[in-house]
Amino acid sequence: MASTTPSLAIEVQDLNLWYGTFQALYEVDLQIKAGIVTALIGPSGCGKSTLLRSCNRINERLGYVKTTGHIRVLGQDIYAEDASALQVRRQVGMVFQRPNPLPLSIRDNVLFAHRLHRETSASRADEDAMVEAALREVLLWDRVKDRLAHKATGLSLEEQQKLCIARLLPTRPTVLLMDEPCSALDPEATAAVEDLIWDLRGNYSILLVTHNMAQARRASDECVFMLMGRVVEHGVTEDVFVAPKSQQTADYIEGRFG
Ligand SMILES: Nc1ncnc2c1ncn2[C@@H]1O[C@H](COP(=O)(O)OP(=O)(O)OP(=O)(O)O)[C@@H](O)[C@H]1O
Ligand SMILES: [Mg+2]
Repeated sequence: MASTTPSLAIEVQDLNLWYGTFQALYEVDLQIKAGIVTALIGPSGCGKSTLLRSCNRINERLGYVKTTGHIRVLGQDIYAEDASALQVRRQVGMVFQRPNPLPLSIRDNVLFAHRLHRETSASRADEDAMVEAALREVLLWDRVKDRLAHKATGLSLEEQQKLCIARLLPTRPTVLLMDEPCSALDPEATAAVEDLIWDLRGNYSILLVTHNMAQARRASDECVFMLMGRVVEHGVTEDVFVAPKSQQTADYIEGRFG
C-alpha cells in the first residue's frame, strides 16, 4: 500500500460505518494535516463522534459495528490486519464531553496509561519527571503540584478536563481526538481549555468536535462540516465561515438548522 506524506496526521479513505444495519458514515474521505487544530462541526447525529471514535478504533468494542475503507494515522493503516488496537490508542488519545478522571490520585491518573502500556518499569524519579512534564504541558502544574496525592475527582471541572488531557501525554500520542471537550464547562473554564488546545497545536494534531460555532471559528485552523454521515465541506476555517462553498454549510453555520 502506498505510504502517505508525513504532513498528514490522519487520512480517511472511503470510510463507511454501520451500527448493525444502520449506516452512520458514508464514503468519508478526509485528509487531516499534522500540527494543526481541525474542527468537526455538523448537526446532532451527523456522525461526528462516530468518525472520531473510528480514528482510535474504540467503535469496535461494540460487536455490531462494521467498517469498510481505510484510516491511516501518520501513514499507517490502523485497520490493517497486523495493526494493534492498543498501539493505535497509545498514538491517538481521546478526550470526552465530561471529564472522566479515574478515582485515583492526580499523580496516578497521569501515570495510568503509561503504566498500562510500558514494557519496563520506570523509577520513581522518572515517573515524577513524567508527571511534572505532562501537568506543565496542560498548564496545571503550579495549581496542583502540592496536592499530587489528592483525589483527582476533587478538582474543578476545568482542572479535571486538563488532567484528562495530561494523562494522554506520557504515552507520547501524535493525535488528540476531542469530542466536545468544553461542553460540561462554564464560559470561563471553556476559554481556559480552548486556550490550552490552541497551545498544544504544533506538538499534536488535534481533531476537535464542537457545537459551538464561535469556538470552531476561534480555535481551529481548518474546519470540516458533516451532514447525515457525509463530509460536505472541508477547508481553512476562515474560508468555511466567510465563504462556504456549499449552501448546506452556510445554512448550518448561520443557524438555519441543527
Ligand atoms: N452505539 C451506537 N449504536 C447505534 N447507533 C449509534 C450509536 N452511536 C451513534 N449511533 C447513531 O449513529 C448516528 C451518528 O451518531 P453520532 O453520535 O456519531 O453523531 P454526532 O454527530 O456525534 O451527534 P451529537 O452532535 O449529538 O453528538 C446517529 O444516528 C446515532 O443515533
Ligand atoms: Mg457526538
